[in-house]
Amino acid sequence: MSFFSSKSGNLIGVDIGSTSIKLVQLSKSRSGFELVSMAEAPLPRDAIVENTIIDTASISDALTEALRRARPSTKNAALAVSGNAVIIKTIKMPLMTEFELEAQIEYEADQYVPYDIDDVFLDFYIQGISADDPEQMDVVLVACKREVVEDYQQVLNEAGLHVKCMDCDVFALENAAEITDEHTAVTGSEYSLPDEDAEVNALINIGANMININVLIDGRSAFVRDQFFGGQNLTEEIQKEHHISYQAAEQLKIENFEDIYPDALERFYIDLTSELVRSLDFYGDRGSEFPVRKLCLSGGCALLPDIATELEQRLGIDTSVLNPFDNITIPSDKFDVDRLKKIGPMMMVPVGLALRNFDK
Ligand SMILES: Nc1ncnc2c1ncn2[C@@H]1O[C@H](COP(=O)(O)OP(=O)(O)OP(=O)(O)O)[C@@H](O)[C@H]1O
Ligand SMILES: [Mg+2]
Repeated sequence: MSFFSSKSGNLIGVDIGSTSIKLVQLSKSRSGFELVSMAEAPLPRDAIVENTIIDTASISDALTEALRRARPSTKNAALAVSGNAVIIKTIKMPLMTEFELEAQIEYEADQYVPYDIDDVFLDFYIQGISADDPEQMDVVLVACKREVVEDYQQVLNEAGLHVKCMDCDVFALENAAEITDEHTAVTGSEYSLPDEDAEVNALINIGANMININVLIDGRSAFVRDQFFGGQNLTEEIQKEHHISYQAAEQLKIENFEDIYPDALERFYIDLTSELVRSLDFYGDRGSEFPVRKLCLSGGCALLPDIATELEQRLGIDTSVLNPFDNITIPSDKFDVDRLKKIGPMMMVPVGLALRNFDK
């Protein structure tokens, strides 16, 4: 098993989020991608806190239930880890082969990873020759606490799955974005510098407790970040404003959105906007002279009516919602096509994981 290893035959994408487990399996033919299996199973609140497994039994039960419903034709899985346990850094290295880098990576990583190197699971991929220095290459280094990876692996193993590929939400998001209409094809040679016409899109996946951001300049990842904020903040605002339980607030949000008191929604949007401004500033502070031109939203929060218009007005940046199912055939004899198209934005991460199986 390794981070980013792929094309290992058949794979099922397993997204263990804080509110649900989502499974997606795809096939590819000459006419494009097709959905083979899919299922969602809800998780009790607090089964996962800040991306750490707290209640293993609940997660195992939900995974078993999701597998029973999805009936995937493979036991091989791609899984994502995210949040504080994961460190993602882009570093510059002299040009060398992947094999040579493999021998040096632990030594290099030691400078960037704040944990004992023996306690982390380490991987890398060579992004290409550095745009500003053709003598060097950009290498994306990923380190995840070993105990966190092992906890997730164990849950999958107990459900009869084999983890063939570890990924991160931000990269799965990028992978899924490549099959959407908003995708900017990587152009030019690997080390051409972007110019003032560069397309700069921020992929923003807003889940229940986490926002995953990946800023792409001309289709290449330039900045990634996970932030703890999401749909549960809106549920809590509704809970406070309406004086109801968390569950009732969640139900109101999803089933009777128009009945939410405007103050609750306004407070959520103020906080969400400042969280996003913080990340975009952080991206700018890293020395990028290319401001973000477009926000591409996904995750469960992207299902909020009018979220794109709200953020566009508040941030002054073009905003759209990504739906991976726009470009995946969904057989109508097996699936409820209308429902899946509606929840598509929430399925970006598991679709991106399932796509690890294919050359694109
Ligand atoms: N129709 C809807 N309208 C508004 N919000 C919705 C809707 N459907 C789901 N959500 C919200 O989306 C969030 C769940 O999104 P998602 O499935 O992307 O999160 P997750 O992957 O489980 O969590 P995370 O990645 O943050 O740990 C919840 O806060 C939920 O209330
Ligand atoms: Mg998620």
